[in-house]
Amino acid sequence: MRKREQWGTRTGFIFAAIGSAIGLGNIWRFPYVAYENGGGAFFIPYLFAMVTAGIPFLILEFGVGHKFKTSVPNIFSSLSGRMEWLGWWQLLVSFVISIYYVAVVGWTISYLILAFTQGWGQDTANFFYQTYLQLSDTPFAFNGIRWPILGSILCAWLVSWVVLFSGVKKGIELAGKIFMPLLFIMVIVITARAVTLEGATEGLNWMFQPDFSALFNFKVWIEAYGQIFFSLSIGFAIMLTYASYLPKNSDMANNGFITAFCNCGFSILCGIMVFSVLGNMAFIQGVGVDKVVSSGVGLAFVTIPKAINSLPGPVFFGTLFFAALLFAGLSSMISICEVSVSVLIDRFGISRKAAASIYCGIGILCGIGILCGIVFATHSGLLVLDIVDRFINNFGVLVGGLLEIVFLVWICGIDNFKDHINLTSDFKVGKLWTFCLKFITPAILGYMILSNLIGDIITPYGGYPSSALLIFGLFMVQGIIILSVMIHVTVNGGEK
Ligand code: ALA
Repeated sequence: MRKREQWGTRTGFIFAAIGSAIGLGNIWRFPYVAYENGGGAFFIPYLFAMVTAGIPFLILEFGVGHKFKTSVPNIFSSLSGRMEWLGWWQLLVSFVISIYYVAVVGWTISYLILAFTQGWGQDTANFFYQTYLQLSDTPFAFNGIRWPILGSILCAWLVSWVVLFSGVKKGIELAGKIFMPLLFIMVIVITARAVTLEGATEGLNWMFQPDFSALFNFKVWIEAYGQIFFSLSIGFAIMLTYASYLPKNSDMANNGFITAFCNCGFSILCGIMVFSVLGNMAFIQGVGVDKVVSSGVGLAFVTIPKAINSLPGPVFFGTLFFAALLFAGLSSMISICEVSVSVLIDRFGISRKAAASIYCGIGILCGIGILCGIVFATHSGLLVLDIVDRFINNFGVLVGGLLEIVFLVWICGIDNFKDHINLTSDFKVGKLWTFCLKFITPAILGYMILSNLIGDIITPYGGYPSSALLIFGLFMVQGIIILSVMIHVTVNGGEK
């Protein structure tokens, strides 16, 4: 039997886990979510969510991955033959995420090149939507493929393939050890310069000024929990997979804390960076920061390029910002792909090189990946991406995470995992950890799923036509559920 790969060092594992956690979500989502939900006061629910749900769930996933040392469907089937489908579900969710995540990483590559000449011009919105994406009005008007975008997406796949192909130690660990320190250095350098810009203090005031009344709004707390789950990469098989490569006597509790605190610290740093730049932009335009702020794709590809245009040293800021976004995106992308690669190796007994190639380049999964990715490289790519992202996060990740927690904690019994984690961890998890996982995390997840569902029924998401929401959202999620059960039945020969 082939020896299962392992991380070379503890630092290597931590860098890889942090690399997975820190991603596009930290840079473009966190600053805006914080600003929208109480500014400085948002840190209270955010830290509370991290301590009561994020860290406990992360440590649990580290413990379960380490205990079973195999890929995710095998973990669930080892615990109960009837539950293997949940592993396939999480794999399919991560697969769908990888396909649109890679599209955004691809855009980042294009923008990194554009940053050398500010090739996005003065009207950055027009450039991004009309010239670069050539966005259509509805999600169905594909209008053919945008070749430059497809080229960038293929580049992102190529880098991921090289890393995955090279193995856990020589590929993922090495990439983490290079990408993460560089990412931190780049963001610290941009931030150090950005806070000295005129208007930066005003920008920071907008972001950090606490609005304590927000703490009485339940939605703010839900936003905090939502941000924590996606950001820590929990509930969609990644951390289970990464922990399955830990050597025997590894720490789990402390590693969980380190990963979560680095992720949170990095998010706050990104908040300072983004709002200093926005403050400067507002100052130059003579308007309030609220007039220039945005989130997500709009922040990264429209607002920040616009701000960069008016900064002293635009090439310096532009290249550093998009290189940082690229490193953050790539390291998360690699972790998302590794979920499937590990399944191909463990389940089908093929070599890593073959598994990585199959996933990323010449085989079945990559074939599907590229074909689906083409949808995101078409003229309606962004609209489809927005719908898929919304549904996969709200229903694929959160429902999968809730089922995982209920199964592990209530059905398998949390004490098995607690004893396992405490055996080799620097400090021990106890009653508080158990309480958070038994009650707080499932209750919050359940509430989030219900409120999102009711919200989406009352008001169709994003004003998109119902047919688009049905096809790219609901049917896609249903497809994942049906497919995961079908795979379960097929691989078990209909026995379980
Ligand atoms: N945790 C990754 C992110 O925040 C997936 O983008």
